[in-house]
Formats: sequence, C-alpha cells, structure tokens
Amino acid sequence: MSGKKERFDKILNKIEDVLEEEHIEVARKEICRILKENIDYYNWVGFYLSDGNNYLILKEYEGEPTIHTKIRFGEGICGQAAETKRAFLVNDVSKETNYLSCSIKVKSEIVVPIMQDGRFIGELDIDSHKLNAFDELDREFLTEVCRLISLRM
Ligand code: SME
Repeated sequence: MSGKKERFDKILNKIEDVLEEEHIEVARKEICRILKENIDYYNWVGFYLSDGNNYLILKEYEGEPTIHTKIRFGEGICGQAAETKRAFLVNDVSKETNYLSCSIKVKSEIVVPIMQDGRFIGELDIDSHKLNAFDELDREFLTEVCRLISLRM
C-alpha cells in the first residue's frame, strides 16, 4: 500500500508545480492529463464548476467526450456531491440508482468537491473501467488535489 501513497505524493508535487506556473484553466487541463496518464485506473478525469445557479458545467477533462456537460444539483453522482458538498465514492455504478451514465465501460466513480470558504465551487470527477477502483487513499489524495486547486481559484 505504501507504493500507492508514494506515487500519489509524487503526483501531488507535480500538481503543485503546475498550479504555480500555469493559468488556472491551463492548470486544470494539465492536472486532468497528469491524473489520467499516471494512474491506470483513472479512465476519465474532469472538472465541473458551479454556475452559481444550481447547475454544474463541464470544464476541462481528459477522456472520451460525454453528453453530460450540464448537470443539475442533485442529479447523478456529480449532482449529489454538489448538493451535499461531500465526496462520493461509488464502487459499482450499476447499483447506484441516481446515476448519469457516460459510457457502458464505466464501472466505478469518485467525485470530490472543491470548496472555498465553506462554499461549493466545483468538483473533480473520475470514472474507472474497473469495479471497486477507488479507496480511502484515492479519496484523501483527490481531496488534497482539490484543496490545492481551491487556493488558486
Ligand atoms: N456519472 C456522472 C456523470 C458525469 S460522467 O461520469 C462524466 C454522474 O452520475 O453524475
């Protein structure tokens, strides 16, 4: 398990560098790329931002295009994370009733909110083609990624 934690720590260092150097939109796109390329079970990585009016708008992403470019708060896993302001880790999306499917290849999903001064401003969404792909280490790692991003937004 320590191998995974060490890899995550290395990736966090890269992400910190990217956040220092790039404009935030460029940085978010680069973070999607870094996450997808360095972690084999991260098959789709994207950012949804709040429009301030109870909708999530898809911004930067890496992976196949999705029809879900605008999601109402409360709808799907992304919308539930936005409404509750908490992370959602779904081991098997076929068992989730409030779910918006992007691809039949997706088996599990994790969504982590980006918070600023207690306010929900967006989220990081990751889909995997593996069942049970994500664990607490992923959640902690992605929570830290989102914290670092929120400092720049
Ligand atoms: N599956 C998500 C929709 C977004 S896609 O995964 C890119 C959901 O249920 O909210």
